[in-house]
Amino acid sequence: MRDLDVLILGGGAAGLMCAIEAGRRGRKVLVIDHAAKPAEKIRISGGGRCNFTNLNCAPANFLSRNPRFCVSALKRYTQHDFLALVEKHRIAWHEKTLGQLFCDDSARDIIRMLLSELEAVGGTLQLETEIKAVEKPDERFSVSTSRGPLWASSLVVATGGPSIPKMGATGFGYDLARRFGLNVIPPRAALVPLTFSDANKDLCSRLAGVSVDAIVSFQKTRFREGLLFTHRGLSGPSILQISSYWEEGKPVSVNLAPQTDVFETLRAARQQSPKQDLKTALGALLPNRLVDELANAFQLKGRLADQSDKVLRRAAEQLNNWQLTPVGTEGYRTAEVTLGGVDTKDLSSRTMESSKVPGLYFIGETVDVTGHLGGFNFQWAWSSGHAAGQVV
Ligand code: FDA
Repeated sequence: MRDLDVLILGGGAAGLMCAIEAGRRGRKVLVIDHAAKPAEKIRISGGGRCNFTNLNCAPANFLSRNPRFCVSALKRYTQHDFLALVEKHRIAWHEKTLGQLFCDDSARDIIRMLLSELEAVGGTLQLETEIKAVEKPDERFSVSTSRGPLWASSLVVATGGPSIPKMGATGFGYDLARRFGLNVIPPRAALVPLTFSDANKDLCSRLAGVSVDAIVSFQKTRFREGLLFTHRGLSGPSILQISSYWEEGKPVSVNLAPQTDVFETLRAARQQSPKQDLKTALGALLPNRLVDELANAFQLKGRLADQSDKVLRRAAEQLNNWQLTPVGTEGYRTAEVTLGGVDTKDLSSRTMESSKVPGLYFIGETVDVTGHLGGFNFQWAWSSGHAAGQVV
C-alpha cells in the first residue's frame, strides 16, 4: 500500500504539469495512467509538432458556462511562462500563424521536457495502471488499481475528455465527478469536422482535397481561416473552430471569397469584359474545381453580358454567404477536444479544488473550459495544472 501526498490520475499535459509543480514544493507525488506511454495526445498534436501555446492567449479564446472561470489560472501561468520553460530546455520553436507556437522538430521534445522536469523534482509516473475504484473513507482518498491500492491526501483528476477513444481517451473524469456529487455539463465533440447529407455531402465529396481561405460564421461568432472539403463534409481550421459553437439543426454561413465583394466584382467584370463567361470571372476568385462544382450546383452559366444584377447578386450570395446546415459532426472519433465537462461552479478558479469534496481537484480538459484551435487547449492544461500544483 502506497501512501502519497498527491495522486494524479492521468499522465497527459495537465497531469504532468501539476505533478511537476507539486513535486517542486516537496510533495510526494505519483501520476498513474492506463496507457503504455505518457501524454500520447501531445505526441500526435499539431501534426506531430505540438502547437504548445499561443502568444495571444486570453480568456476570450475559451468556451465555458462561466467564461470568467479560466481568468485566474491563465493569469498566474501564462503562455510566456510556458515558453520560458520550452526555452530553458533549448527546444527550438517557431510561430506558424496567428500567434500559434510549434516545435521546430517534434512534439516528443515537449514530452521529454515534462518527464525530465518531473524526474528532477522527484515525481513518479506509473503507466499501464487501471483505476478500479476511488473512495474517500476518511480524510484521505483510497484508489484501488491493477497494481495495488494507493492512498493520498490530494487526488487530482487529469484524465482529459473522451475525444479520440482509440488513443485511450475516456469519460472517466466525468463519471468520477458525478459519483462525488459534482455537476457535469453535458459533453460533446468540439474542434471537429462537420458532416452533411444529400446534395451538399456529394458536392463536398467531389471537392475533397480542395482548400480555400474562408470566413465561417455561426450567429455572431466568426472565424477566418482555411476551409477544406472532405469526403464527408467540411473541415479545416475555420470549420473546426465554428464546430465548437454550432448548434444542431441550424445553418453555418460560409464566405468562400472573404477578400471580395463578389457582386461588385462581377458587375465591374461585366462592364469591362461583357463577353467573358460568368464561370471564367468566378475563376479569378476561386479554384477552378470549386467554380465548376458551384456553377453546376447553383446553375451559374452564360456570358456576363447576359446576367442581370439579380442573377449576379444570387451568384455572389452563394459565394459570400453560402448557408449550409450540417447534419452532425464526425464525433469523438476525430474531435480534438470535448466541450462541456466538470461544472466550474463546483470548482475553485484559483486552485481547481472541488467545493463539495475537499482534496479533490479537476484540471485540464476534464473541466468545462474548452479552448479555440491554436494552442489554447494546451495552455489551459498547463495553467490549470500549475494552479492545482501550487496547493495540492
Ligand atoms: P490528455 O488527454 O492529454 O491526458 C489524459 C490522460 O489520462 C491520458 O494520458 C490518458 O491515457 C489518461 N486516462 C484517460 N482515461 C483514463 C483512465 N480511465 N484511467 C487512467 N488513465 C486515463 N491542443 C493544443 O493546444 N494544440 C494542439 O496542437 C493540439 N492538437 C491536437 C491534436 C489532436 C489529434 C487531438 C486529439 C488534440 C489536440 N489538442 C491540441 C488538444 C489537446 O491534446 C488536449 O486539450 C490536451 O491533451 C488536454 O490535456 P489533458 O491533460 O487534460 O488530457
